[in-house]
Amino acid sequence: MNIVQDSIQDYLFDLDRIGDFEDPVLRNMEELGDRLGFPIIGPLVGGLIYQIAKLAGAESVFELGSGFGYSTYWFAKALPDNGVVHHTDMSKENIEQAKKFLSLGKLAQKVRFHQGDALASLDKTGGLYDIIFCDIDKDQYPEIYPRVKKHLKKEGVLIVDNMLWSGRVVQGDPSAETKGIKQLTELLYADKDFFTTLIPLRDGVAISYRMR
Ligand SMILES: C[S@@+](CC[C@H](N)C(=O)[O-])C[C@H]1O[C@@H](n2cnc3c(N)ncnc32)[C@H](O)[C@@H]1O
Repeated sequence: MNIVQDSIQDYLFDLDRIGDFEDPVLRNMEELGDRLGFPIIGPLVGGLIYQIAKLAGAESVFELGSGFGYSTYWFAKALPDNGVVHHTDMSKENIEQAKKFLSLGKLAQKVRFHQGDALASLDKTGGLYDIIFCDIDKDQYPEIYPRVKKHLKKEGVLIVDNMLWSGRVVQGDPSAETKGIKQLTELLYADKDFFTTLIPLRDGVAISYRMR
């Protein structure tokens, strides 16, 4: 199921091109994602996380599941010179590619790379963050909840991708991935410490503002 109608999606992409940053590194990364069939957040959600980071005045971001660094790149672009984005991924190859792209964009000095399980990297690194961004395997989504409670600052923002999962969240899909996504969604909406909005952009992006 397409979350956004094709014609509306095309309209949004066209608008995005008008307001483009003209960043050739981002375009290269998008082409690589297309070529490999690798699921990056894409330019529309990229623009959204950039804007949230700017609005929040974020200086610290911890990403869970960063792939070859496309979402990392958008955050690094938004952060001030003293800002830090933590990139996490299981794959050494993805990390090497991310380092290359972030260096090309002259943003690598803002990024710390962690290879291995993203949740273990957060446990090990510790600290408090202005933004936590989640894009790991979907069956693991509920496991981020206690970590977010521990490591997201008050007035910080949790951003979670794929929260509509191509519509499977309303199709009775019994998979562990869909169950994981729905469980995290329910935890966030039920938690009075957070104000959550699920935006039906691309594959669904949940934005949870931490109120206390
Ligand atoms: C959807 S991709 C991330 C895309 C990236 N956020 C972007 O938009 O550019 C998910 C990535 O998370 C990694 N991953 C999944 N579960 C993980 C985990 N528990 N720990 C570390 N990496 C994980 C995968 O290797 C994959 O590269």
